[in-house]
Amino acid sequence: MKKIIAPSLLSADLAFLYREIEMLNESESDWFHIDIMDSSFVSNISFGALFTKYVKKYASKPMDVHLMILHPELYIEQFKECGADHLHIHYEACIHLNRTIFSIKKYGMKVGVAVNPHTPVILLKDIIKDIDFVLIMSVNPGFSGQKFISQTYQKLKDTKDLILKKDSSALIEVDGGVNLENASLLFKNGADILVAGTTIFSNSNPKKIIHKMKSSFENK
Ligand code: DX5
Ligand code: ZN
Repeated sequence: MKKIIAPSLLSADLAFLYREIEMLNESESDWFHIDIMDSSFVSNISFGALFTKYVKKYASKPMDVHLMILHPELYIEQFKECGADHLHIHYEACIHLNRTIFSIKKYGMKVGVAVNPHTPVILLKDIIKDIDFVLIMSVNPGFSGQKFISQTYQKLKDTKDLILKKDSSALIEVDGGVNLENASLLFKNGADILVAGTTIFSNSNPKKIIHKMKSSFENK
């Protein structure tokens, strides 16, 4: 399967959002990753659902929306209306995870379950067949620019084992501290999708970084 790059707009220059969207449209990246934070599940506030709508208006690629919020079940319809194609909810934020997963599917979106660094992926065993993505957090969620947690490599293997054992078709997405040094090893250890913010947007040639990241699997 081809590997996917999902740049996180959290690190983009939001004063020039349209320009950033156009840059990503022209780049080899695959999805737009949008980080929604509520100041309760994580200690930061980022964007609301409307931000997704503004980006969707000009984006030519799928909207990969990562909800770092409590009670995500209350906002499913709103994110659908704002153009989300994929909705990721956190395992740690869902009391009725099974119900929330099926509610997202009912609205015609793909569904991902995100796990914080301390959450073992074995806890997903009873829902792994029902989801499209496992979103492995390789930093504690809430901020861009954090240091990659190397335990993620083992977690990738555990996730891959679980997916195979349960005959699931879920793809594995890694989010946080992804850079050109760890990208190829992450792909090699089973990641299908890499989210990257700082590495892409802090560079003066983001398209080149995306190209390098995208080709890091084939090259190594
Ligand atoms: C962290 C977010 C990430 C973040 C990634 O809570 O979920 O998507 O924007 O940013 P970098 O790549 O800078 O770690
Ligand atoms: Zn994210």
